[in-house]
Amino acid sequence: MLTKSISFVARSSSVTRLLANFIYDLSRYLKSSSAGERVDTKIKFQALIVKEYHRIEKGLALNKPRVGFGSEVVQSLLSKLRQYQRKYGLDETGQTALNVLFAYYDFNLDHGLRDEQLYQELLELKNTIPNNQSLTSIGGVIKLSKQEILDSAKQDLRAFFQSRYSIRQFASDNVEMSLIEAAVKMAQKTPSVCNRQSSKVYVFSSDEDKRKALSYQTGNRGFGDQASKVLIVTSDLGHFFHIGERNQCWIDGGMFAMSLVYALHSLGLGTCCLNWSVTYDVDRALKKAIGIRDSESIIMMIAVGHLPDEFKIAQSARKSLKEVLIVS
Ligand SMILES: Cc1cc2nc3c(=O)[nH]c(=O)nc-3n(C[C@H](O)[C@H](O)[C@H](O)COP(=O)(O)O)c2cc1C
Repeated sequence: MLTKSISFVARSSSVTRLLANFIYDLSRYLKSSSAGERVDTKIKFQALIVKEYHRIEKGLALNKPRVGFGSEVVQSLLSKLRQYQRKYGLDETGQTALNVLFAYYDFNLDHGLRDEQLYQELLELKNTIPNNQSLTSIGGVIKLSKQEILDSAKQDLRAFFQSRYSIRQFASDNVEMSLIEAAVKMAQKTPSVCNRQSSKVYVFSSDEDKRKALSYQTGNRGFGDQASKVLIVTSDLGHFFHIGERNQCWIDGGMFAMSLVYALHSLGLGTCCLNWSVTYDVDRALKKAIGIRDSESIIMMIAVGHLPDEFKIAQSARKSLKEVLIVS
């Protein structure tokens, strides 16, 4: 009887704690995401613009797009782009959206549909870009051949994947920022929902900053202090729009983090992912200590360093293929 009561109390207290953490997630999603299309920050506005122009890009990338397709999305994007231009001017996001709309206009024109009004509206928007502002030509579709893809992707990556290990011994050399920048640039090619690119990377280099960040993380004992850089990957909830997207930050941020780890590996650096499996109080405390906004979800930390000449790794055996690959 007593054991039953103790287990009931233990269970109900862990349910209470779980509920408190769910409420934390719920309130952050309500406050920081664009659920209900409540667009009150620049990040949210950009995400909305990207989401809409990407629908048009995707349409243009189909085998045989219908002439005049997506006119509602086009009108909606155009009106949002006008608002965006008035508020922020046509920065890279705005210009890319404009280029997509020009590509849409050109596609229709090539197929016998001239939309003069759309063209004039696009020109009007384009003319708002100041002469001294740099222009981007990105946006729309590009034609590729199978051969081009094969030529770039034909490397046998088995050895590359097999030689990435979680590294828990680092050499004392400094990891140059240029290497981190190169890796982040590579990771930016990671796919993300509607290309919204919600991920960010914070870099900590000084002993004090690294120590501060790592003090909130429980899995770096015995090696975290050897890392030349500590990275924190986040994903901003402002990029997500509806209830179904409430967990999308973990997917997009997680995929970005994976790419980043592989990019660092390709540059010869050692990495160890460091979990951010924490309760809300720890999440809040770290964000406050190092200045990460509440709207950002912390995906993980990554310890980065140069490899020592010789070192040990945990073997970390993998399951058999038949346990993982289910062929129906
Ligand atoms: C999200 C995530 C969190 C992790 N957190 C830690 C951690 O806190 N400390 C640690 O030593 N390793 C951590 N790891 C590393 C795993 O233990 C390691 O990836 C796994 O054992 C497979 O080994 P391998 O990376 O050498 O292939 C983490 C890995 C991932 C993907």
